[in-house]
Amino acid sequence: MNAVSHPEDATFLRDYRDTPAARVWAIGIASVLGLLFVVWALALWRPIVAMFAPLPELTKLTAVVGFGAMGVVAVVQSSLVLRRHYAVADRLRRCETALAELLATNRELQDTLKGQEEEVVRVSEIDGGLWAQGCVAPVPFVERSERRTRLLSVFNLKGGVGKTTITANLGRAMCELDSHTRVLVVDLDFQGTLSGATTAESERSKRDQLYTAARLLESHAPDDIELEQILTPSTENERLVVITANDLLEHADFREQARFLLDRGQDPRHRFRSLFHHRLMLKSFDVVLFDCPPRLTTSSVNALCASDFVLIPVQLTDSAWEAVPRTVQWLRRLGKASRAEPMGVVANQVRLNGERLIGPHQQVLGMLRSLMKAEGYDFGVLNQMVSDDRSLASRMLGEGSGPSSRLFHPLAREILRRMGP
Ligand SMILES: Nc1ncnc2c1ncn2[C@@H]1O[C@H](COP(=O)(O)OP(=O)(O)OP(=O)(O)O)[C@@H](O)[C@H]1O
Ligand SMILES: [Mg+2]
Repeated sequence: MNAVSHPEDATFLRDYRDTPAARVWAIGIASVLGLLFVVWALALWRPIVAMFAPLPELTKLTAVVGFGAMGVVAVVQSSLVLRRHYAVADRLRRCETALAELLATNRELQDTLKGQEEEVVRVSEIDGGLWAQGCVAPVPFVERSERRTRLLSVFNLKGGVGKTTITANLGRAMCELDSHTRVLVVDLDFQGTLSGATTAESERSKRDQLYTAARLLESHAPDDIELEQILTPSTENERLVVITANDLLEHADFREQARFLLDRGQDPRHRFRSLFHHRLMLKSFDVVLFDCPPRLTTSSVNALCASDFVLIPVQLTDSAWEAVPRTVQWLRRLGKASRAEPMGVVANQVRLNGERLIGPHQQVLGMLRSLMKAEGYDFGVLNQMVSDDRSLASRMLGEGSGPSSRLFHPLAREILRRMGP
């Protein structure tokens, strides 16, 4: 499109259209009279001369000069009108070309818009089902029989049920139960509660903040990241190692999810599988525990896709256990993308009356068991529960051999047994 001439043409045509009618008439009449005079003068030269002969010389001169001037005006005006006519015709042609180009651009834009509308419809149809998409090229899952390492995600879509408390204390308890066990706990909540509870501030600030859980989403193998940078020692046990999380994880989670939404070829669900099923990792750790946020973020989906088992902590309150069916439904929707089996539900913050659960907890536990039976789940409630312990609320990792340290030993034993040799 001739973008420069386009506005000029518009101004020109507007001026032309807005020329006052009186001026046009005056020019027209003068032109006609002038032309008539010229024709008349040429055709009837002799009779005119004869007709004017008796008139005084001054009148004759005036008439000749007057009509002559009108003739000149007529010729000049006619040529001007003609020039203007051709200019208008030329500009009209250019306007038509520009208009045709505009119409073509409009059609192109409409096609693009239609394509984008279809994309929006496609994306909105996917909605929460994004993570349930079939895998185009799944990363191989190293069979449990071929490795010693066990991977467990602590996950519940309900918040505040004790996922982080249980992950941190299980990691520690597992190290305490066997002097050779090496445990890696991975914080997948950008709020970094687990990181703060298990590692020293000095260790975290010593490390580049880029070497945190967000980095895991950008890597495809341990060689991609400097392991000594990302593996942070815990404050409690030298065999307990932590991958910490910070705000960068939220950005990485969102960025990878958005990429996947727009391009199904960029499947980010198996990054952790490539990383944690790598021989280097399998050689370094016996147990990997993922502390998931109460949401299906890119990293929590990755944890579920890399794990062997999922542990679902619940509180025995009316609202807390309702999240179990929702959580299990989501695990199922991940379909072939995940191989993780729900290990079971662990009741947290239970209150005891002597050896037995207090009445309301007993009641909720009964309801939970019937619901799980009715749903046909092939897993149940773990035998070991975690009691409500104030020392856990104030300090997530118990000190030395204090009450909270012992609290998790039976649960850790049961989980290790369920995970198999
Ligand atoms: N057994 C327990 N006894 C006493 N307090 C507990 C117990 N378990 C968890 N808590 C307390 O409950 C609160 C929530 O626990 P936690 O942060 O572990 O939950 P979460 O499921 O990880 O939460 P979120 O979903 O926000 O990540 C914390 O203040 C924690 O100290
Ligand atoms: Mg948490």
